[in-house]
Amino acid sequence: MIFAAILAGGIGSRMGGTDTPKQFLTLGDKPVIIHTIEKFVINSNIDKIIVLTPENYITHTIHLIEKHIPKNDNIIVIEGGETRNDTLMNSIIYIEENFGIDDDSIILTHDSVRPFVTHRIIEDNIEAAKRYGACDTVIPATDTIVESINGTTIESIPVRDYYYQGQTPQSFNIKKLFNLINSLTEEESNILTDACKIFTLKDEDVYLVDGEVSNIKITYPYDLKLANTILEDGND
Ligand code: CTP
Repeated sequence: MIFAAILAGGIGSRMGGTDTPKQFLTLGDKPVIIHTIEKFVINSNIDKIIVLTPENYITHTIHLIEKHIPKNDNIIVIEGGETRNDTLMNSIIYIEENFGIDDDSIILTHDSVRPFVTHRIIEDNIEAAKRYGACDTVIPATDTIVESINGTTIESIPVRDYYYQGQTPQSFNIKKLFNLINSLTEEESNILTDACKIFTLKDEDVYLVDGEVSNIKITYPYDLKLANTILEDGND
């Protein structure tokens, strides 16, 4: 089976100015999270879409989905976790308990606050996760990357051609991910905040999928303004 996990368990502290987590703010005529879920709903290869939100937003999310994406029984809303990685783990546990995990099961994990993910990116993720077992969506770094350990002076300036900016989806063969997570020491699990990092730590390849500059993550108020401009330009 092919699953999508829409990670919406965060509170959006960097957004400021509102108590509403940014995934529930309005973009155009509907909440950000609905734009994002719709991108996965239109892909007929995806069997189940698991949306993970803070506990006190589950009912609200179910109502939003009933209103904006009616007659869809492939979407499940469950509770996220304390950290983004915990939220991801909740989706894997839910899948294991409710559907079972076979050798071919894959999961696409996507930030709820990246509403402009494209059909092409989702298709490429499915293809790469099936073929390679793990993939990350990236775009080449445009700014020069500067490394500083002390935050005051430059340590090094790496060759930009080797650096990319990570986006989402990040997609995996679920069995492989599950086994790798279970093989981590307690020390390793505490430092691993990113599922792709687990693969690289264990010397497993993670394939690169081309992202898009427009596949932005809404983090700060400026990003929401930018998102409205992208929407108005018709790139949605
Ligand atoms: N996320 C999640 N569960 C968490 C934390 C984050 O599912 N416990 C999700 C967010 O909802 C978001 C995505 O991960 O869709 C990317 O994270 P980020 O932009 O850091 O979101 P927040 O944690 O909500 O923002 P902030 O760090 O500003 O509080």
